[in-house]
Amino acid sequence: MTEKCAGEDNNEKFEVMLTAEQIETRIKEMAEVISHDYRGKKPLLICILKGAVVFLSDLIRCLNIPLEIDFIAVSSYGADTKSSGVVRILKDLEQSIQGKEVLIVEDIVDTGLTLSYLVDNLGSRHPNSLKVITLLDKPDCRKVEYKPDYCGFTIPDRFVIGYGLDCGENYRQLPDLCVLND
Ligand code: IMP
Ligand code: MG
Repeated sequence: MTEKCAGEDNNEKFEVMLTAEQIETRIKEMAEVISHDYRGKKPLLICILKGAVVFLSDLIRCLNIPLEIDFIAVSSYGADTKSSGVVRILKDLEQSIQGKEVLIVEDIVDTGLTLSYLVDNLGSRHPNSLKVITLLDKPDCRKVEYKPDYCGFTIPDRFVIGYGLDCGENYRQLPDLCVLND
């Protein structure tokens, strides 16, 4: 990904890739599958800050199982949209995950670096199980092999914003998932 972030004062245009309604419908489908898979269990959903916040908050309200949530923040691309390849934990979990059924909740898998690092890191803390839910997947962008356990949408190699996803911390509040045109 090499696109530059448009400044707020530019006259940029958004092209909608997925409407809020399409996302809502897909999240309901995903929640049905996850609720079924975790019936009789109480998973801990770990939201990767900040992009996955909107997805987590919609997803948990569609799940009909008991659950807990926690948050983790990892270093991201900063103001640029290029992957640095370096992953660092900026804010760690508030609790031990030993013996828990853990579900990592991510907004988008791009190079796969973040999730392969987190799966290794959290996996070494002895959860009973560890799976990944992502709303979006861009499989064409992988630098390391990685396949999420639950995926909402597979999308082409475009830089997307809205529904929690940002470009230089802007546009997270847009209800639709959009492509930022130059
Ligand atoms: P990965 O380590 O390259 O898989 O990076 C995943 C992270 O990069 C996501 O959690 C996002 O924060 C960010 N990211 C990747 N692609 C996009 C995009 O198209 N829009 C906004 N953020 C993105
Ligand atoms: Mg993210």
